[in-house]
Amino acid sequence: MNARQHRETEINEKLKTAPRVPETDIVMDSEEPVRAFHAAGEVGGPLYPIYHFSATRLSALLPSGACFLDLFCGSGRLLTYLLAGRPDLSAIGIDLSGEMLRRAKENAVKAQVLDRVTLVQADAALADRVLEQPVAAIASLSALHHCPSSDILRDVLRAVQRIRDRDGSAVWLFDLVRPPHASTANLIPSSYELSTGLQLDPFFREDWINSLRAGWTFEEMRDALKTSELDLISSEANFSQVHWCPSSSVTPPPPDWNGPGREGDVRRADKLASELGFGPLE
Ligand SMILES: C[S@@+](CC[C@H](N)C(=O)[O-])C[C@H]1O[C@@H](n2cnc3c(N)ncnc32)[C@H](O)[C@@H]1O
Repeated sequence: MNARQHRETEINEKLKTAPRVPETDIVMDSEEPVRAFHAAGEVGGPLYPIYHFSATRLSALLPSGACFLDLFCGSGRLLTYLLAGRPDLSAIGIDLSGEMLRRAKENAVKAQVLDRVTLVQADAALADRVLEQPVAAIASLSALHHCPSSDILRDVLRAVQRIRDRDGSAVWLFDLVRPPHASTANLIPSSYELSTGLQLDPFFREDWINSLRAGWTFEEMRDALKTSELDLISSEANFSQVHWCPSSSVTPPPPDWNGPGREGDVRRADKLASELGFGPLE
């Protein structure tokens, strides 16, 4: 155990927080879990509120004609959703999984945004070396808990910091929070099923529980951001956390969000936004 891991264990013991159990499926390359994860992002699915919330907030950070980076882009849910609502934008998606990137391409074709998307198979910790153009924002959704250790989390955050330093990019990092007690991780998907009356796909249920166990606490994330010299606005609520900042340069006001809105399942997105201290969404 190195000094940092020792300190983390000490903090967890003081806070009585369940020890972290890193993901075993770090690079999501197996067909069934990827299918189930992608399906969970459909309108009405458990992940949909995260995409609507993040896309509309990111839209407000992106000036006309900008390019943004979706780090750990997975099956491209965020980038296609945001590009569909903002026809002036383009996006770069980085992920290590060939299966996720295959789906991201399929998703971009379906949403008719492929001509504005670049997909790169690469390690998020090397993002600054892979990028060939400036990006106005860097986003990462539901993914930092895939970092196997806090040292690797810091490597990724330092790559984000180097891009922000170079391009003045806005930052939007959203992820879940590890519950204080290990047993709560099992209860969260069950509570979702009870409150919505929907039954979760067994692959997604397992993925959700594993993700909660691998999550970073708010304090662990804030500590990692601090040592990576990322000075962000942070909030936490109901097992979710967001860390963000606007661009460091003066940018013109963004065009209006013109994507799926009120007619969709956005009540849960509004609730998530308000719990995290944001006003009503578009
Ligand atoms: C839970 S998924 C989230 C995907 C996407 N951000 C979303 O919310 O739809 C996590 C993703 O991180 C990817 N991943 C894990 N480690 C990575 C790394 N070091 N570099 C790039 N991608 C990675 C996995 O392959 C997977 O697609």
